[in-house]
Amino acid sequence: MPVSLLTVERFVEFPVLGDMKHSYDRTKPSKPGKGPVVASSPAAPKRLVVLVSGSGTNLQALIDAIEAVGSAAYGAEIVAVGADRGGIAGLERAESVGLPTFVCRVQDHPTREEWDRALAEAVAAYEPDLVISAGFMKIVGKEFLARFGGRTVNTHPALLPSFPGAHGVRDALAYGAKVTGCTVHFVDDGVDTGPIIAQSVVEVRDEDHADGGAALHERIKEVERQLLVEVVGRLARHGYRIEGRKVSIP
Ligand code: GRF
Repeated sequence: MPVSLLTVERFVEFPVLGDMKHSYDRTKPSKPGKGPVVASSPAAPKRLVVLVSGSGTNLQALIDAIEAVGSAAYGAEIVAVGADRGGIAGLERAESVGLPTFVCRVQDHPTREEWDRALAEAVAAYEPDLVISAGFMKIVGKEFLARFGGRTVNTHPALLPSFPGAHGVRDALAYGAKVTGCTVHFVDDGVDTGPIIAQSVVEVRDEDHADGGAALHERIKEVERQLLVEVVGRLARHGYRIEGRKVSIP
């Protein structure tokens, strides 16, 4: 059971003072007066590694949100952007604002497990507090989850648990759903099955059936970007608790 940390009550409380990078990985809730010292000085921004596979508009929304208010006020900074393929707009977006990037391709590794280990190593090199899978079209494996389970966030373009997988928009449309949307959730060892953090609803229009869901996906992505920016900021600023399937942000 490689991600058992998701099955127990877990409180992730980001330290306020000092270099306590790993001390937030707590398995018990903090007690009043027993947590880290809360100083009047602002907390250091949490470190985000963002993973992408395509156009990277969700990444861009995070970049823009942090740029707009500053990493201290937002609560987080992007320290690197990783991808499972080269030559994508998502990497160009990162490079254009001077963010470090890395590419970890499945086909460059003898096995899927070795790819997963290499991805985990590449991400770990940037010592992230949170990993954000923003349109990253790969399922991470045991090694990755052993290191980043409980702090990897994914965004999915459907209202989970309905329509998981790579074709969430198309599948909702084909099913005849009248509403769909997006889900921001923690990653576990299933396909889009981890504890849900937040969801937004998008109405399906009759005309959406004409273009195979392209316009619907664009409408979903508009709300998805806003939701992701809001959720990541709240997680970073406030910490969070995962109790079974229930996620709460104080
Ligand atoms: C998003 O809708 C995401 O949920 C899905 O792929 C899309 C990625 O968009 N997995 P972008 O690359 O952030 O523009």
